[in-house]
Amino acid sequence: MVAFSTLSGISAVPLLLSLVQHAHGISLEVSTEGGNSSSSLLYGFMFEDINHSGDGGIYGQMLQNPGLQGTTPNLTAWAAVGDATIAIDGNNPLTSAIPSTIKLEVSENATGAVGLTNEGYWGIPVDGSEFQSSFWIKGDYSGNITIRLVGNYTGIEYGSTTFAHTSTADNFTKATAKFPTTKAPDGNVLYELTVDGSVAAGSSLNFGYLTLFGETYKSRENGLKPQIANVLADVKGSFLRFPGGNNIEGYSPENRWKWNETIGPLEDRPGRQGTWTYYNTDGLGLAEYFYWCEDLGLAPVLGVWDGFALDSSGGTPLTGDALTPYVDDVLNELEYILGDTSTTYGALRAAHGQKEPWKLTMVEIGNEDHLGGGCDSYPERFIKFYDAIHAAYPDLIIIASTSETDCLPDSMPEGSWVDYHDYNTADGLVDQFNYFDNLNRSVPYFIGEYSRWEIDWPNMQGSVAEAVFMIGFERNSDLVKMAAYAPLLQLVNSTQWVPDLIGFTQSPEMTFLSTSYYVQEMFSTNRGDTIKEVTSDTDFGPVYWVASSAGDAYYVKLANYGSNPQTLTVAISGTTTGKLTILADSDPEAYNSDTQTLVTPSESTVQASNGTFTFSLPAWAVAVLAAN
Ligand code: AHR
Repeated sequence: MVAFSTLSGISAVPLLLSLVQHAHGISLEVSTEGGNSSSSLLYGFMFEDINHSGDGGIYGQMLQNPGLQGTTPNLTAWAAVGDATIAIDGNNPLTSAIPSTIKLEVSENATGAVGLTNEGYWGIPVDGSEFQSSFWIKGDYSGNITIRLVGNYTGIEYGSTTFAHTSTADNFTKATAKFPTTKAPDGNVLYELTVDGSVAAGSSLNFGYLTLFGETYKSRENGLKPQIANVLADVKGSFLRFPGGNNIEGYSPENRWKWNETIGPLEDRPGRQGTWTYYNTDGLGLAEYFYWCEDLGLAPVLGVWDGFALDSSGGTPLTGDALTPYVDDVLNELEYILGDTSTTYGALRAAHGQKEPWKLTMVEIGNEDHLGGGCDSYPERFIKFYDAIHAAYPDLIIIASTSETDCLPDSMPEGSWVDYHDYNTADGLVDQFNYFDNLNRSVPYFIGEYSRWEIDWPNMQGSVAEAVFMIGFERNSDLVKMAAYAPLLQLVNSTQWVPDLIGFTQSPEMTFLSTSYYVQEMFSTNRGDTIKEVTSDTDFGPVYWVASSAGDAYYVKLANYGSNPQTLTVAISGTTTGKLTILADSDPEAYNSDTQTLVTPSESTVQASNGTFTFSLPAWAVAVLAAN
């Protein structure tokens, strides 16, 4: 019966025809001895602000265009309420970073409530938690201010507060109000801030950088929306790569993601025109990424700009001395993250509320430098960043943004890794099953982005194909250290890239989970530390497998990339019972979306007979047997 090994480096020789497997099923025998150690970081997340995944997504702040940021400010999402008008005011800046504020001009004869509304990011998710709103106000006013969350079409109120406030025409003062809410039935909710029209009649008031938060994940200030953070937490991922992706690159050096403009008080963050069509507030900034990692137990993988922007007409790639200021900038960023409080930027971090350095072990130099004209200069650019970072922080793992040898230095320096991306068809991902088997083991791999591409929603065939690809790299997880599906999140009302792992709307529950999400969850939450040899009477395809162990527990991951159900016998000596989780649909095009949830995993308890489990693997299925 011993014919095929699932440990890489041992050849596979077919013994039986696939006809026989259909008739008699597939037998697997998991060795309880030996094995290769598996990367403890294997499954994790890649994040950048795309599809409003940050602003309007996981970042807790809910008002769109909160500070009229940018050099061409506009009033997107804002409207006037009552007998008043609103306008952009460049003559009453809040700070140098927030040069524009909203001027509310109240009519001479105004009475009743006058003020402004914000429609959020295609709605506001009112989940029944305590909400908090803050804003800056300037102008002579002494009276009540009311904040309401109100049904857009219904007028039903889901939360409100009224408080007395006095402001003057001299300075902006900050007001913060907390109030309870009741859960709204959907996201059709407006934020409304009004003052007493009879008090303000004939005058004007300026409002700057307004915010609205519900309860945040782990109650973190300026934190994450729990609805989205919770489904990430359920995956039990190990790392977070941020802040891009293409979004770190920008279209010119000036348009790159600038760490130092994403830190400190919100009113000191100018924001930036993001790569993915919309303006980024940068309220979700460098510190917030580190708190995200801390709160979800993720190892940060920090991407840094490396002299290459997306549009070569923007004057990049930069090489030679032109790179030096950007290398220095990365060293400053690392000092902000890792330096103690005696350093300039470590002290700045402490002044921003984080005395202890954060934990950081991995830095990635750029993004996809094999594309768009980045390749030729990347060896020089990578080495320049590597040398400077390695000299200052010799323990950091430094990751090249490509695995293409033509774009890398002739020999990769000590402790460096490469990043491999694969957006592919379903068949293309399955073809990659063996890709890592025979690669040189000297330079570890990070699969920084992958997914079944060119469909609107992750579907069953694509998710099974991803599972086959994942089984391929889990078998090789001595070499493949980390891997992340991308993109991670998608606001369905404003999407720049499909498919995505987790979709959301502004309904109070927010998320809906794709078939690919369930594959990530099943694989990540069933991890061993040692990959075990599996022998079989059958070759790989259409069924693929990998087995691992941690102590007495065994995990067998399976994918059936085909339309015929398969009978499996899995022998693991000494085991008696198991939990079998199966995600399957006989329709390979079945998918979950904001309007339908067709496929979810099912769980059952299975018993072994003399250490052997027998069960059926449905068509187009991903399964995990957790046994002990
Ligand atoms: O995930 C979407 C984009 O795909 C990323 O920003 C980029 O790195 C890749 O090309």
